[in-house]
Amino acid sequence: MNQKKLIVANWKSNPNDLASAVKLAKAIDHKNVVIAVPFPFLPAVYKQLKKSALGAQDLFWADGPYTGEVSAQDLKILKVKYVIVGHSERRKNLKETDEMINLKLKAALRGGLRAVLCVGEPATVRKKGIKEAKKFVKQQLVNDLKSTNKLLKLKANKLIIAYEPVWAISTGKGSEPDTPEEAVGMIKFIKEILYSKFHILNPKVLYGGSVNAKNAKGFLREKEVDGALVGGASLLPLEFHKVINAII
Ligand code: PGA
Repeated sequence: MNQKKLIVANWKSNPNDLASAVKLAKAIDHKNVVIAVPFPFLPAVYKQLKKSALGAQDLFWADGPYTGEVSAQDLKILKVKYVIVGHSERRKNLKETDEMINLKLKAALRGGLRAVLCVGEPATVRKKGIKEAKKFVKQQLVNDLKSTNKLLKLKANKLIIAYEPVWAISTGKGSEPDTPEEAVGMIKFIKEILYSKFHILNPKVLYGGSVNAKNAKGFLREKEVDGALVGGASLLPLEFHKVINAII
């Protein structure tokens, strides 16, 4: 397996009980894999993992009087190493703004976590063409990474970007969500922005959006694609192992 590629499993709000979570974690534990699980499952899943790193799916930007929120410090105590920030489902369903995502990202990096920042254009933007999609993704990066230059100077290797075109997430059709060529084009563009605006050399940029056993190879064999953020397929051990094995 290519040591540099990373697969992040995003279980979202699954499975439905702790016993299933523990069983699934055991079944998909693998090196170069991060398993991002719902908060309540973190401690039990951590105990199962021998090779994977533990991930969370969100965090809040501060400790203190914030009812219901979970801080970077809380996650560190639970042995979390990676945290997903700015997932499109949160942007859409919880109205997370770029300002909020920027605060969360900085909190994650300051707190010593590795942040997986999700960016990607919705269908309405993509319909207008690839140029518009790039403009949209650039704006997300510029907003989400605002005032992080100093922080990134020290912690650039702790920032991972996941390009997830919103229209390609959870298609559940088993078909190719985006062509690898177009995904590579956008990932190259993201790397250019990261370099020109934030002086980040060799960033890890993953592709996400209905990556599965059938289409994984097409994405993961591309040298520009540094890995994948996998939702639905990470709940199915056989399927997920095929995704991991697609890394050459
Ligand atoms: P999906 O989810 O693989 O089920 O499309 C990916 C994601 O939302 O991170």
